[in-house]
Amino acid sequence: MAPEATRGRRSQIWYAGDDRNAFIHRAWMRRGLPSDAFEGRPHIAIANTASDLAPCNMHLTDVAKSVEAGIWEAGGVPLDMPVMSMGETQMRPTAMLFRNLAAMSIEEMIRANPIDGVVLLGGCDKTIPALLMAAASVNLPALVVPGGPMLTGHFRGVPLGCGTDVWRLSEEVRAGTLSRQRFLDAESSMIRSRGHCNTMGTASTMACMAEALGMTLPGMAGIPAPDSRLLERSHEAGKRIVELVDAGRRPSDVMTFGSFANAIVMLSVIGGSTNAIVHLLAIAGRLGVPLSLDDFDRIGSHVPLLVDLLPAGRHLMDDLFRAGGLLAALREVRDLLDPAPITVTGKPLVEYLDDAEIYDEEVIRRRATPLLGEAGIAVLRGNLCPDGAVIKPAAATASLLQHRGRAVVFDSIEDARAQLDDPSLDVDADSVLVLRGCGPKGYPGMPEVGNLPLPEKLLEQGVRDMVRISDARMSGTAYGTVVLHVSPEAAAGGPLGIVRTGDPIVLDVDARRLDIDLPEAELRTRTPATHAGYAAPLRGWEQLYVDHVLQADTGADLDFLVGASGDEVRRESH
Ligand code: FES
Repeated sequence: MAPEATRGRRSQIWYAGDDRNAFIHRAWMRRGLPSDAFEGRPHIAIANTASDLAPCNMHLTDVAKSVEAGIWEAGGVPLDMPVMSMGETQMRPTAMLFRNLAAMSIEEMIRANPIDGVVLLGGCDKTIPALLMAAASVNLPALVVPGGPMLTGHFRGVPLGCGTDVWRLSEEVRAGTLSRQRFLDAESSMIRSRGHCNTMGTASTMACMAEALGMTLPGMAGIPAPDSRLLERSHEAGKRIVELVDAGRRPSDVMTFGSFANAIVMLSVIGGSTNAIVHLLAIAGRLGVPLSLDDFDRIGSHVPLLVDLLPAGRHLMDDLFRAGGLLAALREVRDLLDPAPITVTGKPLVEYLDDAEIYDEEVIRRRATPLLGEAGIAVLRGNLCPDGAVIKPAAATASLLQHRGRAVVFDSIEDARAQLDDPSLDVDADSVLVLRGCGPKGYPGMPEVGNLPLPEKLLEQGVRDMVRISDARMSGTAYGTVVLHVSPEAAAGGPLGIVRTGDPIVLDVDARRLDIDLPEAELRTRTPATHAGYAAPLRGWEQLYVDHVLQADTGADLDFLVGASGDEVRRESH
């Protein structure tokens, strides 16, 4: 390699020269590496979130082998870097509590080590957000390899959507229309193969967001995990990261305001998870990109829903890939995309749309025949949510989008679970279920409990949706007329803490309003519920998190992690 090509390469700060420290750095790393490994070849970390306790990511070690082969082929030196992972279904109290911890630890691992670039291997819900937040902070050349969705499982001839069908079937059990035994029989059919959830839940959404942001090879998000093409593209990604390092192309060159705007358009087109809002805001915050909650409504709310996938529609992720994939869907809204933002390849995303074709118009609708004319996220304001709240109208019941009802208030998810099936609970189909104590500080960690189960007695009457309001998040696989991310949350002194059972609540999605319909003078006299929060003593990470977490309207990052920090490490360790 010509000396000029290696000049300024970050790993050479560790390896170049003939002094004692360079000797130490090289000697301990040799272990079979080729003799020219320290003479200017780019050192690439593969940040791998594979873990047996993050079952959706278990296969990423196989994917890493293909990435590794591509890095070798392009002249780089691949370095396996296992990083903190999070299994969405397994972690208590909620995986979201640990997103910022993972992002912080991955950021430090990237910065502290002698590497020139990083490949980010993620899949399960929080893993791609944490990897992108970390990469945005350090701002070394990086690209994402999404682990891909699983294949569709079937139960008694019917396809099963991960998550969505768990919620649906468990409600059927509660309504008495499905036996518990039949429900349990479905368990072993739910997860058919390696890969993450097959609905347009948070994992699928965040893989799509990574592609819209330009951080994957175009056309890569949504390749099913067991499909051999995932390994083929992973090999290509390995080659591409070496080019990225040579070109000096960094996340801040790729993830601009325009690419976030394209991601918001895509979020509507695919009917993506509301969780993408907090993740995109947090990633933008790390980069200093001025993205706001209102941008989601302004840019995305009038964009049509074209991808007919659960939970907003009918099909599943392998259907989307078979039907032409993400780029085919995006081609239909090409005029709404910002043509300027580049991808990791150096070319704009829109350049990859020319050859994209729709092969199944049932799964990917044409612009002229959308699933919904105006999808996306509506951002609400009002005296109940002065800093904003969100609702996904595509997943809601149209007749409830304008609604007035009496509040039934729960101070915690445990309080709600204890009361919801009590026959004496004073609730009817028009009531508005209000849940507090479930925001970033209150739970802590902002769990996915916003889609409260409906009271059993109403389920038995045939009620299948009600207006629900909370400071929590909702699983990307869930549905219903659910107002989420109310900011500020009750535990941070937000007005959600002063609502009382019986208060009239008015939801008007057209007007983007959410209010308690009582005189301000009366509301001012109320004392906020002090118990809307987590009372147990905290320590360690939980304490740090509660002390520093920001509200959902800015991405729920920690206050001291906002903004980029770069890749420089000024001091030697020896
Ligand atoms: Fe991992 Fe759904 S639980 S993606």
